[in-house]
Amino acid sequence: MKALVVYDSFFGNTEKIAKAIGGAFDPQTQVEVVRASEVKPEQLEGVELLVVGSPTRQFRASEATLAFLNSLPPNSLKGKKAAAFDTRVDMKKQKSWLLRLIGKLFRYAAEPIGAALEKSGGKLVLPPEGFFVEDTEGPLREGELERAAAWAKSM
Ligand SMILES: Cc1cc2nc3c(=O)[nH]c(=O)nc-3n(C[C@H](O)[C@H](O)[C@H](O)COP(=O)(O)O)c2cc1C
Repeated sequence: MKALVVYDSFFGNTEKIAKAIGGAFDPQTQVEVVRASEVKPEQLEGVELLVVGSPTRQFRASEATLAFLNSLPPNSLKGKKAAAFDTRVDMKKQKSWLLRLIGKLFRYAAEPIGAALEKSGGKLVLPPEGFFVEDTEGPLREGELERAAAWAKSM
């Protein structure tokens, strides 16, 4: 199987998750892990599983991730498997009640990424998933790389 993991990352945390996902597939799977701003159309050719991940920025995916998703022609993922993830802070653990409230009201990036992949014809093999950073610049919460690898293995 050919898989492509597309990600964006400002501080390196989403990149680490993307690489953990890419490294978790069985050896028969041909995997490429590519930054969203660097994906070339030919890298999508023959891909059977497309995984897209982004840091959550202002309750949505990053600009580069959105640009990549918008560049997918309609129905271009028809017959392909897809999965979406993000990195995020745990709004429930914020000290400020305002941030906790905001966390309840607003979404993270993974769900809209998943919706965009479905809109292009992809079939989500797993519900969109979020991986936690301890703070804006990281580090990742302990155990998240392992959880990302397990998430990928369950696809
Ligand atoms: C400008 C900005 C906006 C952010 N907005 C959110 C947000 O809405 N929700 C959230 O959970 N985390 C938010 N974060 C935290 C990011 O999710 C966190 O920086 C990211 O997961 C780190 O991943 P990276 O190292 O791959 O960039 C924001 C961070 C920045 C710098």
